[in-house]
Amino acid sequence: MTDTVASLMAEIADVGTDPTRGGYSRPVYSTAELDLRSWFVAHAERRGLDVQTDRNGIIWAWSGGVGEGAVVTGSHLDSVPGGGAYDGPLGVASSLVAFDRLAERGVLGRRAIAVFPEEEGSRFGLACLGSRLLTGAIDPDRARTLTDADGTTFAEATRRAGLDAARLGPDPETLARIGTFVELHVEQGLGLVDHDRPVAVASSILGHGRWRIGFTGEGNHAGTTLMSGRRDPMVASAVLIGDVQRLARRIPDARATVGRLVPTPGGTNVIASRVDVWLDVRHPDDAVTRVLVAEIEAAAKTAAAEQGCTVAMTEESFSATLDFDPVLRDRLADLLDDAPRLGTGAGHDAGVLKDHVSTAMLFVRNPTGVSHAPGEAVEDADAETGAEALADSLEALLGTP
Ligand code: GLV
Ligand code: MN
Ligand code: MN
Repeated sequence: MTDTVASLMAEIADVGTDPTRGGYSRPVYSTAELDLRSWFVAHAERRGLDVQTDRNGIIWAWSGGVGEGAVVTGSHLDSVPGGGAYDGPLGVASSLVAFDRLAERGVLGRRAIAVFPEEEGSRFGLACLGSRLLTGAIDPDRARTLTDADGTTFAEATRRAGLDAARLGPDPETLARIGTFVELHVEQGLGLVDHDRPVAVASSILGHGRWRIGFTGEGNHAGTTLMSGRRDPMVASAVLIGDVQRLARRIPDARATVGRLVPTPGGTNVIASRVDVWLDVRHPDDAVTRVLVAEIEAAAKTAAAEQGCTVAMTEESFSATLDFDPVLRDRLADLLDDAPRLGTGAGHDAGVLKDHVSTAMLFVRNPTGVSHAPGEAVEDADAETGAEALADSLEALLGTP
């Protein structure tokens, strides 16, 4: 194959562009993401790989026959709203090119590329849903009832994508086919720029979670309701958002974000009756995350009471801080010319798989350091270096012959 990572990325550059937000909006099982899945399947089949979609919507493309304990690479094709081009697709395109390199070297053997659905949780709210279902980290009944902004359940979206929603759930047989998993990903910071290197090996993932904070007040008329007589959940939300920043800034290494807020009914001349605020909190020490979240909950109660509102907070997900296998990490770093070892603040399917199989990640330099936004970038030469590094890693990890 003459494909390069850059040529593959160019083929999908028009899929899921978002003229309103900028960048790409490719929610799981949207037309854009389904088009990308078809694009991947066509490339895999052109390479003679055996392509199967499992009960959880994970696409597997096998060389050398399906079997246990194989070396697997891959990533995801869904995006956040208005995301960058590389978060996910870089790992998928690099996997195809890495397989080409291994085939050229005559060492492809039994390996697979996996493409995971709903890594971002941008449609159904729960990140890494495919890998969580695969590993049993989420109850399939809960997954089936997750609902997107239009009221479509994950079960329904799964059905529309041609899968049987009743079969969602833990899949030990498929999991056992992964001996080692290596995910290549765009770096989501400036670590490699600082090191002046194109590729790093991941050392850790910051613990992270999502909480939904629902403020309830009294819907009313913007013109006829006196300022003194209001129970406005939008004001409670605004106060809380300021508090989130203030509370998190006191704690070194903490990150706390409100990136989404939905007022109901959401009219310019309407005092909202309800506002839902989604909170994302991350810190290396999970106990510190818990304390910060408790402080934010207390602040939400105060803000609600001051506005005559009520509030309820629920945890939607939590993933503990994790370290990747240091032996595998160091082995790959040595192989890749003493590549830097970098921690990341972003979540990944590799993090979910890590509790079940030997797992590693490679990061490719991002000159802007921006991610989850259109400014995310990778130089073409670095993308090719990344695919070569992935091929070298996959070659070194022999897996089942
Ligand atoms: C996924 O990219 C996340 O870290 O939220
Ligand atoms: Mn990603
Ligand atoms: Mn992401």
